[in-house]
Amino acid sequence: MILIVYVTVDGQAKKIADKLEKVLEQNGCIVKVADMSVVSKKQLETANKIVVIASIRYGKFPKILFQFVAQNAHYLKEKAGDFVGINLIARNPAKAVPQNNVYVRKFLEKIDWEPNHVAIFAGALLYSKYHFFDKKMIQLIMYLTKGPTDSSQDIEFTDWEKVEQFGIKLVEER
Ligand SMILES: Cc1cc2nc3c(=O)[nH]c(=O)nc-3n(C[C@H](O)[C@H](O)[C@H](O)COP(=O)(O)O)c2cc1C
Repeated sequence: MILIVYVTVDGQAKKIADKLEKVLEQNGCIVKVADMSVVSKKQLETANKIVVIASIRYGKFPKILFQFVAQNAHYLKEKAGDFVGINLIARNPAKAVPQNNVYVRKFLEKIDWEPNHVAIFAGALLYSKYHFFDKKMIQLIMYLTKGPTDSSQDIEFTDWEKVEQFGIKLVEER
């Protein structure tokens, strides 16, 4: 069983987890998708493989991710766990590799786990979901990074073909 554990705020990490589940199931794998806040020890124990998915907020991965990795590093190492990081700077393909993605690079430096594979996908810019402060801050970040600042439009930057290719890689390595 391949266990995909995600943590999300606005749903994009879950959407990517669900897409991977679909690709894996279409290729004959048994898959379970679990929210990091409720994933059970039994699920971690019975998995043959674990994929961890998390997204960035204001330059940081969530605390629960660090706790999850610290508590379950033995499972992640034993089951050749993979890590998937989601953020908006990865909309620039040059920043979608660990050595050029500051968030993922720093995360990997801090944890006691070297993932089997690290994938980085661009997330979604969902202005319609953000509250006033977040909307203004994201607009500023977008302005500084030459991204879209029109808050009347939501944009999904996730390259679904890239997500699918990552899923296929998992199938081939099974
Ligand atoms: C409040 C907030 C802060 C964010 N900060 C960053 C950031 O510092 N750098 C970045 O590249 N993306 C940033 N993002 C983009 C998110 O990583 C992206 O929207 C992602 O799709 C969110 O995933 P989720 O829906 O699983 O929570 C931010 C998004 C929000 C809403």
